[in-house]
Amino acid sequence: MALVTGSSSGIGAAVARRLAADGMRIVVNSARSTAAGKALADELPHAVYVRGDVADPADARRIVAAAIEAYGRLDVLVNNAGTTRFIPLDDLDAADADAWRDIFDVNVFGVWQLTTAAVPYLRRSESAAIVNVSSVSATRALGSSIPYAVSKAALNHLTRLLATQLGPEIRVNAVAPGLIETPWYDEAEEVWANSRAWITANTPLRSVGSPQDVAEAVAYLTRAAYTTGDVLTVDGGRHVV
Ligand SMILES: NC(=O)c1ccc[n+]([C@@H]2O[C@H](COP(=O)([O-])OP(=O)(O)OC[C@H]3O[C@@H](n4cnc5c(N)ncnc54)[C@H](OP(=O)(O)O)[C@@H]3O)[C@@H](O)[C@H]2O)c1
Repeated sequence: MALVTGSSSGIGAAVARRLAADGMRIVVNSARSTAAGKALADELPHAVYVRGDVADPADARRIVAAAIEAYGRLDVLVNNAGTTRFIPLDDLDAADADAWRDIFDVNVFGVWQLTTAAVPYLRRSESAAIVNVSSVSATRALGSSIPYAVSKAALNHLTRLLATQLGPEIRVNAVAPGLIETPWYDEAEEVWANSRAWITANTPLRSVGSPQDVAEAVAYLTRAAYTTGDVLTVDGGRHVV
């Protein structure tokens, strides 16, 4: 049974579909887009939708409790819900304290809250895995904003630290996507005109990524029995050029 945060759209929705295709029962979650989340849960063979904001400590506990109430167990937690603000990296004034707090509340504290609420149940599973959705901006000087990139760098280190503390019962890994075509991408295209052309020209695999590309990597990490503390890059090879 898998809980996928932020799964009403984009990468999270693709992960929910991919894990459902593996035969898993799914909890679909989002904070605002209730109709889209319910529609996806209705489409999958065994799924429920739970509205809740991962940044809110009470909601985080309630989302996990609802998953246990629905299925009586928890095997996989995918911490996918994320937020950003599109701020050019050289505009230091625009990256004010509110931007830092809003982004860290979801991308770092949200992951922490979901994870700590889920750990007691994951420990009871024979095949427990946490997969965090990070970003290549965690390790490269790029991305939608400096606070976003730093939040994902924190998430990578949180992934490694949790792996040391939660093994052997629970494996903890992350995926680091490059630019992926989701509603998020549409906003990126508005801010950085021609980003598709630039990425296509400068990436070994000559394309932007799809949500399914990331979902495949997440599904692999849910099964990779001897892998923990790792961050798997899904960016068409852009990080090596
Ligand atoms: N697209 C990319 O190029 C890209 C690249 C690298 C990493 N990522 C990462 O991939 C993840 C998914 O992004 P995406 O591109 O698929 O974006 P998306 O299509 O905008 O989906 C984001 C999902 O997260 C939900 N969400 C946002 N804030 C939430 C909160 N506080 N609590 C619960 N759910 C919340 C959204 O629903 P509501 O807004 O309705 O709550 C939505 O379901 C993020 O962690 C992002 O950082 C994306």
